[in-house]
Amino acid sequence: MTTGPSGSVPTQGRRDPGGGGPGAPTRGRLELLGVHQLFDGSSSLVIDDVTLRCEPGEFVVVVGPSGCGKSTLLNIAAGMLRPQRGSALLDGRPITGPGPDRAMVFQEHGLFPWLTAAENVGFGLRMQRVPAPEREARVNAALKMVNLSHAGSKLVHELSGGMRQRVSIARALVVDPAVLLMDEPFAALDAQTRTLLHGQVQRVWSQTGKTVLFVTHSVGEAVRLADRIIVMSSHPGRIRKEFAVTLAHPRPMDSPELAEIGRRVRAEIQEEVSRVNAAMEAGSR
Ligand SMILES: Nc1ncnc2c1ncn2[C@@H]1O[C@H](COP(=O)(O)OP(=O)(O)OP(=O)(O)O)[C@@H](O)[C@H]1O
Ligand SMILES: [Mg+2]
Repeated sequence: MTTGPSGSVPTQGRRDPGGGGPGAPTRGRLELLGVHQLFDGSSSLVIDDVTLRCEPGEFVVVVGPSGCGKSTLLNIAAGMLRPQRGSALLDGRPITGPGPDRAMVFQEHGLFPWLTAAENVGFGLRMQRVPAPEREARVNAALKMVNLSHAGSKLVHELSGGMRQRVSIARALVVDPAVLLMDEPFAALDAQTRTLLHGQVQRVWSQTGKTVLFVTHSVGEAVRLADRIIVMSSHPGRIRKEFAVTLAHPRPMDSPELAEIGRRVRAEIQEEVSRVNAAMEAGSR
């Protein structure tokens, strides 16, 4: 069972891909333990004593008001930031910097415009000096996973927004990370493309058993994808509440249970936004 600090609910009974059954993922246990983050030159804590445990193969979605520290948490998990206090562990080992066991996907695709889709996907492997035949096989497999086998030779400007994000996902998958860290990966896409990509991400997730830590502002996206939804509070960033989403995947979007969880998550975020606004107004008086 996973619990968070005050206000969190137990996640007992959630569908647990890392639950130890046959074929269950064996790597990808991500732990942020008592993490505090303060940026240079600032006196206020951005992250205050956050403990978040993601089980191997679990899909955890983080939501919360803008500026509450969601990207900061991902950056700590990625090893781009070292917290002042607390620790970040992957499969029991301290995270001391970026590594191929954790791959990031951002809102901005960050692809090299002068390379083809396949060359972009293979770039990291080339840097790792993976031999060409193996590289080609892995790139092809990653492109196939996101249904882009036909588009490997296209340059970035020849791809739609959704295709670019799928190339970014393939680029993350090709290094076979244990954990995928996704920071609002679909925020810039239209609703239809988003829905398509939700389906693809779910398929990739169930096929690969990766642990996913996913940040979004969309509650609909969260309830569709998550095993567990973390609602953060801001100033400082803390875990305000956790919601287990135990419905099987893929989920019917018109399910009353899903609508009810979405309603509760939205109410929690709204309460947090109102609290922050009231505190800011009081501070400016
Ligand atoms: N490198 C940095 N130096 C100083 N302050 C930073 C830095 N990165 C983030 N912050 C501050 O930390 C806080 C949390 O930022 P973060 O980007 O993690 O928020 P977020 O929840 O991802 O917001 P959004 O939803 O808008 O993306 C903000 O107040 C931000 O200004
Ligand atoms: Mg952010």
